[in-house]
Amino acid sequence: MSKMTERSEDAKPNILITGTPGAGKSYLCERLSAQLKFDWLDCSKIAKDNNFIEEYDDEYDCPILDEDKLMDHLEPIMAKGGNIVEYHGCDFFPERWFQAVFVVTCPNTTLYDRLKERKYNEKKLTSNIECEIFGTILEEAKDSYKEDKVFVLRGETRQDADKSLKTVKNWYRTWKRK
Ligand SMILES: Nc1ncnc2c1ncn2[C@@H]1O[C@H](COP(=O)(O)OP(=O)(O)OP(=O)(O)O)[C@@H](O)[C@H]1O
Ligand SMILES: [Mg+2]
Repeated sequence: MSKMTERSEDAKPNILITGTPGAGKSYLCERLSAQLKFDWLDCSKIAKDNNFIEEYDDEYDCPILDEDKLMDHLEPIMAKGGNIVEYHGCDFFPERWFQAVFVVTCPNTTLYDRLKERKYNEKKLTSNIECEIFGTILEEAKDSYKEDKVFVLRGETRQDADKSLKTVKNWYRTWKRK
């Protein structure tokens, strides 16, 4: 590595965990952040807590994110590294923020049960199931980040989560050696 791009020993990357609502992002992030000792930033929660909400979509029964406000809030945090960012979208973040993007996927029958349990209305349920069936978030990730940064994980079972933990930790180990 050249002097110009050399990074300090304790530098940490930022990781994005994305995927359809209910696919298992939080479940994974909780474990991942504890094991890697990274900070878990759940963008939906941050937006809600700080009122980074533009308006409310009554049809889909969900808040509409004020992306600029969220971005301004995250910029200094991202500069420090060591963050695991969770969000069900990925195309509006600056590409430079993330050294890896993991897309959590889930079989749509399981996803259906999870979202039904959340009492999502029919419209919201259908649009999220379609999002998963069409691989919308994976496509979004591939459109927004270099292909070699984007990885797919499964979020259906505990075994999936264990495997995902290993995958991300292995990625981190390789990144540190670079
Ligand atoms: N790998 C897994 N094994 C077993 N259960 C899981 C797994 N991942 C998620 N779940 C369960 O599925 C439900 C939804 O998971 P989770 O909250 O992690 O989804 P999410 O992707 O973070 O959704 P959102 O986009 O709304 O934040 C939770 O009840 C969670 O316990
Ligand atoms: Mg979540």
